[in-house]
Amino acid sequence: MPYSLRDKRVLIVGSGSDIAAALVTDLLREGARVTLAGRNIEKTASATKALGDAVRPLSLDLSDEESIRAAADQVRAAGGLDHLVSVATERANGPVASLERGALHAAFDAKVVGPILLAKHFARLIAEEGSLLFFSGLAAWRPSPGLAAMAATNGSVSTLASALAVELAPTRVNALSPGVIDTSNWDVVAADKQELFRQVAASAPARRVGDPSDVSAAARALLVNPYINGETLHVDGGARWS
Ligand SMILES: NC(=O)c1ccc[n+]([C@@H]2O[C@H](COP(=O)([O-])OP(=O)(O)OC[C@H]3O[C@@H](n4cnc5c(N)ncnc54)[C@H](OP(=O)(O)O)[C@@H]3O)[C@@H](O)[C@H]2O)c1
Repeated sequence: MPYSLRDKRVLIVGSGSDIAAALVTDLLREGARVTLAGRNIEKTASATKALGDAVRPLSLDLSDEESIRAAADQVRAAGGLDHLVSVATERANGPVASLERGALHAAFDAKVVGPILLAKHFARLIAEEGSLLFFSGLAAWRPSPGLAAMAATNGSVSTLASALAVELAPTRVNALSPGVIDTSNWDVVAADKQELFRQVAASAPARRVGDPSDVSAAARALLVNPYINGETLHVDGGARWS
């Protein structure tokens, strides 16, 4: 059936993410076969267990090419893949004068170098009409002080998606750029999450922050539509224009 993910094999990288959890839940509901990958296999196994017995855990660290190669070998042995999604991120936030090289490298590994290596090792395992999907973010499109590294990594994701779409054709490659989404990472990142959400909701044209289900629905559209390619889909309630 066209535009269906039933029985499609989907690998999602970034096992601790609430957005990944929402996507896994929606994909399972639709009958997809989901593997969830993370750099810490114990954490990943417990995340998959929480999402249901059907989800397979896989060890994969985007900062370690050998782990990416080993994960690809396992996927090849299991028969390949229809879609690969990476939601992974590492934040290197703060005034540019305070940024540490190690944190910058981790941020670029998660969003730029890692996705390039995913393409290197997984693209040949993707079935006809399959795709790669990488996660960008609003910081690239609406820069603010303290988020220079995040702007650079997220902007690179978008550029990478269109470049890879050309190089890996006919495998499709897209990017998704969320705005502020109500996820647990804001408990750590924001000094006052509720106040931040209130301010975002007041200024965003959608008049609310996003929900992981908003992002999951958009990710699904990018996976199933065989004519969306090299695109960056913004799921930010119009926040780029506020
Ligand atoms: N939430 C938002 O409001 C928002 C806004 C704009 C953009 N986005 C984008 O949407 C995506 C998902 O966001 P989120 O908030 O749900 O993410 P999150 O909670 O921060 O989770 C990110 C995940 O990436 C994993 N990761 C980091 N480095 C990795 C590596 N080297 N190898 C493998 N995994 C690695 C982390 O693993 P561990 O669990 O091991 O730490 C974590 O599970 C991200 O790309 C983010 O930039 C989100």
